[in-house]
Amino acid sequence: MNQKQPEEKPDGNFFHRLDKSAILTVVGIILLFSGSVIVTLIAPRYVDPTWTSPSSSYQVQMYEVSDPNLYISSASGHSSTLQFVYHIKENFTLLLFQESEYSRIVAPDHLKKYITAYNEPVLTLTSKLLLLRSPEKSDHFDAIAAAGQLRTSIVNEWEKNHPKWKEEGTSKPNIQIMELYEPDSHDAFALALTDGMIENWVDHDFRILDETPMQNYHKDSGVIYVRNPSEFRITNIKTGNVNDWVYDPKGEAIQGLDALKSHPAGFHSRAELIAAGEHIYAIEGCWYCHTDQTRTLVQDVMLNGSDSHPAPPSTASEYIYQKITFPGTRRIGPDLSRVGVKRSSRDWHKTHFQFPQTASKGSIMPAFRHFFDDDPRGTSKNTEGIPNYQFEAIFQYLMTKGTRITPPTQAWWLGKDPVGTKEIIEGRGHLNP
Ligand code: HEC
Repeated sequence: MNQKQPEEKPDGNFFHRLDKSAILTVVGIILLFSGSVIVTLIAPRYVDPTWTSPSSSYQVQMYEVSDPNLYISSASGHSSTLQFVYHIKENFTLLLFQESEYSRIVAPDHLKKYITAYNEPVLTLTSKLLLLRSPEKSDHFDAIAAAGQLRTSIVNEWEKNHPKWKEEGTSKPNIQIMELYEPDSHDAFALALTDGMIENWVDHDFRILDETPMQNYHKDSGVIYVRNPSEFRITNIKTGNVNDWVYDPKGEAIQGLDALKSHPAGFHSRAELIAAGEHIYAIEGCWYCHTDQTRTLVQDVMLNGSDSHPAPPSTASEYIYQKITFPGTRRIGPDLSRVGVKRSSRDWHKTHFQFPQTASKGSIMPAFRHFFDDDPRGTSKNTEGIPNYQFEAIFQYLMTKGTRITPPTQAWWLGKDPVGTKEIIEGRGHLNP
């Protein structure tokens, strides 16, 4: 008995210990499980942009096509025009701050190196997140005073060069001065003017100021950059019971993608519009009359291109981003596979979808008036409707056609001629079987 007693104690302890280790095991399993769920399912969404950024030219093309960075919305009720906003990410988007004759930039000393001065042939690019705004006075830098000084000196200089400006009746130049500043976030929204296009690309004569290149593709020729982004701000207003907003450079900065996409701003990404456009293309039956394929036939490459720069025939890779493809069978209307290059004007498409016969004499294409809304207040003098999301979607979809096959520097209009069309036409060659 006496001997057993001490044995019982460790026994109890043993069970006690077992209990604890069992609990530890269960807890461990739960931790491991939730850890793996976080790592594989949840974390990737937040590890942006490094896990989602392109690392080769080929991926840049993919990123371009599914480009989520342009957002479009209409400021409902107050403006008939659409607002285009560019989502800029630090260490991801290349930015250019370039002065022109009458638009200048002031900046605190440490940011001056990011400005490409007027007439400077080499563009200075950076993937550091900087933005332009109307000059403000802050603790470190009085942009209002700096802008005032700059304006005076430019105007004085101008007066010196135009001594007779008063007699000639010319007015003094109107100089726009913006302040370059560093926002304290990792992404920002920039106003995109002129149909949303603030991207451009440069082949040579550029330098990137980042100490270490953040993206591989930034080194390639034909880098794409965003020029002079200025911060997009809005003011929320209430009209009746409706929450509304207007673009307002003095308003509030948009806090994040969620705020941009949710009510009341309600922006849609270009990628979403392209997907919607694909759907519209299907349900409107555009494919009854249009094909989406440049065949390896002389008439196709010539019609979709030009005599000197024939369009390349379609390849399978062009369709990889599409859910549905519309090769089509009847060519009642022209083939659309290169329409983004052939007709890139938004205005042209605007007129064409409303009044096909006006844009294109004798056209039998039906008008698509439902791509347009009537002027809600009836104040507009012109009778044209206002493009709605359906127009924007089909337009963005059409603009993917033929525009993103190769990097800009190797684009077909630079004299690529994969089937040797010129030789064929001049009777020196023939199509390979
Ligand atoms: C009944 C046949 C028909 C349907 C349906 C049709 N189109 Fe057309 N489309 C034409 C014809 C014919 C032309 C050439 C004359 C012209 O430019 O209007 C044309 C021209 C075009 C052009 C100009 C192409 C170029 O290279 O000049 C575009 C873009 C276009 N259509 C897009 C569309 C879209 C998008 C849809 C569907 C929403 C559509 N079309 C539906 C017949 C049609």
